[in-house]
Amino acid sequence: MSELGFVKDGALLFSEGRVAAAGPRESVLRHPQAASAAVYDAGGRLVLPGFVDSHTHPVFAEPRLRDFESRLQGKSYAQIQEEGGGIFSSVAAVRAASQEALAARFAVQARRFLECGTTTIEAKSGYGLDLESELKMLRALRAGAGASGLEAVATFLGAHAIAPEYRDRPDDYVALVCERMIPAVAREALARYVDAFCEAGYFSAAQVERLFAAATSAGLGLRVHAEQLSHGGGARIAAKFKAASADHLDHADDADIEALRAAGTIATLVPGANHFLGLDAFPPARRMIERGLAVALATDFNPGTCPCWNMQQVLSLAATRMRMSAQEAIVAATINGACALGLGSTHGSLEPGKAADAAVFDCEDPRELAYWFGANLATAVFKRGELVAGEKALKK
Ligand code: NIG
Ligand code: FE
Repeated sequence: MSELGFVKDGALLFSEGRVAAAGPRESVLRHPQAASAAVYDAGGRLVLPGFVDSHTHPVFAEPRLRDFESRLQGKSYAQIQEEGGGIFSSVAAVRAASQEALAARFAVQARRFLECGTTTIEAKSGYGLDLESELKMLRALRAGAGASGLEAVATFLGAHAIAPEYRDRPDDYVALVCERMIPAVAREALARYVDAFCEAGYFSAAQVERLFAAATSAGLGLRVHAEQLSHGGGARIAAKFKAASADHLDHADDADIEALRAAGTIATLVPGANHFLGLDAFPPARRMIERGLAVALATDFNPGTCPCWNMQQVLSLAATRMRMSAQEAIVAATINGACALGLGSTHGSLEPGKAADAAVFDCEDPRELAYWFGANLATAVFKRGELVAGEKALKK
């Protein structure tokens, strides 16, 4: 995880949305297509693969400012949820919003991701919690992403919380998700993955097993919010089903780490959520890396626990709060994020044949990305070879 394959005085050649050549400048310039290509001079600045942010909840109707204030007054995330706020405030707002309004809001958000150097995100539903509202979120995501240029891999998160109508019969809600929602999402090809929040007061490990079985028979991939607020057993289920990713993992123990490693499940860490919730503890990234578990980093962008879309801020937190090296953090935010989305062979690194997704940063040394914090250093961002954000100066 600490090998960047960094090339000093490098160059890239893009053709038809893909990387045609990458490496030392002199060798890339000898490529037969190089002479006729438009030139973007990065002026010696750092160029990286676009970030692959593999855990976000970017479709919502409103920020959650009341929750934020309650937390500042000392209430915990769990208390706020029990009082009808938390995820439920976002659910009420999303149910009331039109698909067009959600899509338009997401398109604004998509630009912000691109401007900070993120070219691919994973994006979850989960603020609808009834069939029509969940489908509305996923359709809004599809429409909004299409318009923006940001690539979004959709995840169905109907199992984000027990819908308020099912408060007293949670197993009936799980049955509804398994029997009606997952098949409907699969039929319309609205998502590639199914996720669940495995946590006391949300979904038990046994319920997540039922959800995973239904997702698997519908042909969808698996990911899970696991061991975030307590040890709920989600990591073990993720390993059992060989899920693509287990996320958060604040309370993961050594047995969980070993089970995920053996299963080939990626550990996706979202330190921005810990930061925003004002927590002292962060996930055990060093233990994971030392034990050979592949770690990805993501924002967890959402209105409740991480209103931050900038992966550069996540790199900074990974370094200062989880003692990841800048190199490890960059790997975690690019190729490992791609692998967590099943896109490892096409995204996440700048190699011939892969997507021409790249970001230019206003610095020279990769370590600077985790060093300067609170800033956006991205000065130009390319998606499939097109300049989609930042400087407009493409020279012929
Ligand atoms: O990843 N843990 C559950 N889901 C989100 C929070 C979503 C919300 O509060 O709206 C998370 O932290
Ligand atoms: Fe999340």
